Amino acid sequence: MIRKQIAAANWKMNLSLSQAETLADELMKSEIKLDIHQQVILAVPFPYLTAIHQKVNHHNHFHVSAQNCAATKNGAFTGEVSAEMLRDIDIQYVIIGHSERRAYYHETSDILVEKINLALEYGLKPIFCCGEPLSIREEGTQNEFVAHQLKEGLFHLDAEQMKHFIIAYEPIWAIGTGKTASSDQAQEMHQYIRKVIADQYGHSIADTVSILYGGSVKANNAEDIFSKPDVDGGLVGGASLVASEFSTIINSLKSIIL
Ligand code: PGA
Repeated sequence: MIRKQIAAANWKMNLSLSQAETLADELMKSEIKLDIHQQVILAVPFPYLTAIHQKVNHHNHFHVSAQNCAATKNGAFTGEVSAEMLRDIDIQYVIIGHSERRAYYHETSDILVEKINLALEYGLKPIFCCGEPLSIREEGTQNEFVAHQLKEGLFHLDAEQMKHFIIAYEPIWAIGTGKTASSDQAQEMHQYIRKVIADQYGHSIADTVSILYGGSVKANNAEDIFSKPDVDGGLVGGASLVASEFSTIINSLKSIIL
């Protein structure tokens, strides 16, 4: 069973349109080698989705993602963008439950469940984020914390919906801090996440789920982190804004046939 190895860029609320287009152009021009089971996902700000999609669309392994979608289908929700709208402009992925959304926009598990259900209803693939804050890591209860996030956010899904799902484990203490989890810490948590999924859905489903690591992934640590058996690539913030850094990160994806 082959699961996708994925380098996902999370541009967050950065870059002008021309900077964003230049970055996409530079990535397209850089020497990127991708196998059939490796892919790149660029999660870009809403206003740039169409422009960046048009730029990378011809490349089989490149896809564009939104960073969020609304928890409601449509209606009087000023400022929101629905899953259906994203589908209409041919976007295939959406990040759901990033720790910044959970913390700054008070997105609870109930809200995330609504978003995931709408994303799936409209044919989008969610990239579901989980991860513990520093206090929990220091307490040593990170496994329970992450298992709880997975159960609350995902375990209403059936096995078919869970197949080939994408999860990003992003310890909050490592996001934007320059402090990365060691590759062993990442592997330990990823293996645990896969076990939690296997306990619920069985090994054959759990083995299809791509589990990305996020939190200060850089060109100089990606290969070590991605080399771990349960780490299927990364969700990259800061380092994804520099074409040379991100192309090295893409080329650090491991090539495996499971
Ligand atoms: P970072 O962000 O790579 O800048 O730590 C990762 C993320 O928040 O997805």
